[in-house]
Amino acid sequence: MCGIVGYVGNREASPIVLSALRRLEYRGYDSAGIAGIRINGAEKNENFQIRRCEGSIDRLKDLLDTQPMVGTTAIGHTRWATHGRPSEKNAHPHRFRDVVIVHNGIIENHKELRQELIKKGHRFDSETDSEIIAHLLDRLIRETGDFEKSCRTMIKRLEGAFALAVLWSHDPDNLFVAKQGSPLLLGRGEGENFVASDIPALLEYTKEFLILNDGEMAFIEPSRIRVMDFSGKLIQKKTQRINWSLAMAEKEGYDHFMLKEIHEQPRVLQDSLRGRIVPGFKNVIFDTIDWKAEKWRSFSSVSMVACGTAWHAGLITKYWMEQIAKIHADVDLASEYRYRSPVEFPKTLSIAISQSGETYDTLAAVDEAKKLRHSLLSITNTVDSSIVRRTKNVIYTHAGPEISVASTKCFTAQLMNLALVTVKLAQARRAQSKAWIAKFLKDLSSISRQIEKVLKHEDKVREIAKKYANYNQYFYLGRGISYPIALEGALKLKEIAYINTQAYSAGEMKHGPIALISDQWPVVCVAPNDRLFPKMMSNIEVVKARSGKIISIGTEGHKTLENASDDFLPIPKVREELSPFLTNIYLQLFAYHMAVLRGNNVDKPKNLAKSVTVE
Ligand code: G6P
Repeated sequence: MCGIVGYVGNREASPIVLSALRRLEYRGYDSAGIAGIRINGAEKNENFQIRRCEGSIDRLKDLLDTQPMVGTTAIGHTRWATHGRPSEKNAHPHRFRDVVIVHNGIIENHKELRQELIKKGHRFDSETDSEIIAHLLDRLIRETGDFEKSCRTMIKRLEGAFALAVLWSHDPDNLFVAKQGSPLLLGRGEGENFVASDIPALLEYTKEFLILNDGEMAFIEPSRIRVMDFSGKLIQKKTQRINWSLAMAEKEGYDHFMLKEIHEQPRVLQDSLRGRIVPGFKNVIFDTIDWKAEKWRSFSSVSMVACGTAWHAGLITKYWMEQIAKIHADVDLASEYRYRSPVEFPKTLSIAISQSGETYDTLAAVDEAKKLRHSLLSITNTVDSSIVRRTKNVIYTHAGPEISVASTKCFTAQLMNLALVTVKLAQARRAQSKAWIAKFLKDLSSISRQIEKVLKHEDKVREIAKKYANYNQYFYLGRGISYPIALEGALKLKEIAYINTQAYSAGEMKHGPIALISDQWPVVCVAPNDRLFPKMMSNIEVVKARSGKIISIGTEGHKTLENASDDFLPIPKVREELSPFLTNIYLQLFAYHMAVLRGNNVDKPKNLAKSVTVE
């Protein structure tokens, strides 16, 4: 967790670092800080200026307004607490004598290093694992007198995950960075260079990026960047041009990023499909995967791993894989998979699903699948993320940056790409006829238009949210392919509206949860007109008989359901397999409007972070 930024150049550094930090706030907002090297006129007098505070970047901005910084080199940090509670003392940057650092990740051997340094007389100011980095490096520099050499020695002593940016006050135009397990990239400018945890943080300043791999470090000066491995061997890195516009990373007039991202979904699906369906709906192509049909045909099972919302995308895909591609499929929570000793199963296609490509548990599950000699494939939204380097075969969701902590458009884009993978397998296994595949792909291509129709009902969703805003507990029910959607809808309401939700397969209600039904628990029913609808309808009747209030999402014109419901939200008629794309939109909007009505910070819900890079 945490976001880091660095700047060396010829402009005032603090406004640049501050604005980049704002775009990284989704990575954590427990505390924020910035450190620069003071300049008196043209002289650099080797003094650090440090401003840190508990809380968000807004508070850091206030601090900088009252205590401005001057200088053309700075590093900054926005924190999601792991070691040590959120406080000013634990906020980065951490300084020891002539060294100041910002760190994202966890130094696993920090206790041993701390003890070693305490024995040598060091005293620590914070409870963080990160502070030892400043102490260790300063000590090494004092021993050797050489900043770069000491950085190389220091990096070898660190175990765990880190993305680091470091300043030494005696060489103010030389910023040291290193990466192991946490994201870090470099931005190239004219007479200035940048560092950040992700691409959107720097889009305002550059589109030219160098993406660091694990085990790489760099010394960054205003007019040169030297990338090397941890032994100090220089590496020639190619600059990549990233064509995301800054506007793509901003709110475009919506009140919140989440609402903007919900409304972007029709466009995102078109982008996801672009170039991937052969004209005439004959075939699916992934230009990033070079497997031939025989390879796709060789799999005898699919094993998916993911966390949070991405896990729900996997659950839906299990239905698709089994029904459409006729292949055995499992989906695991990544945090469970790695510890449950999965048995080696030959010819397994392992699919890791992760918006960020940086979720620690998902990466660890990929490593586990690698040990089992599975063929690996990842679905991610993040170019050159850690998952990409681990899996080689990657499908990008092309959803553009997702800023809101609660995932919406990336979930939908994951579903789209997983549907295409299902088709690829179905074709290779000859599980469906050519005509069936062509019709399915055609229907998939028109789903973005159907989403546009659902989005037009937003006012109605807002009214329903107003009506139910004061209830503090909700049930979410669904069956079959709608059950994971009930789980996802319930998670959304929980994470941004802070409302207690329970999601069940409707068939399970009778085994316990029904005891809770009363007029105090509104029940959100995901009930499209599919083959399980009659079963779902009986479950709804049982809830009604116990005075439950029914908010249902069903197929337009379906009077049986509408009449049985207190409130009804219609989706256009759509083939059974594709209803999740539509029903989910209502649940995203419902959670969003409930969170707004409750005055919550929609894009940055408390205690959560967008990218969870710790176990
Ligand atoms: C965090 C986010 C969730 C996300 C999950 C997995 O918990 O708050 O929205 O679904 O991580 O993230 P990933 O980047 O792996 O999809």
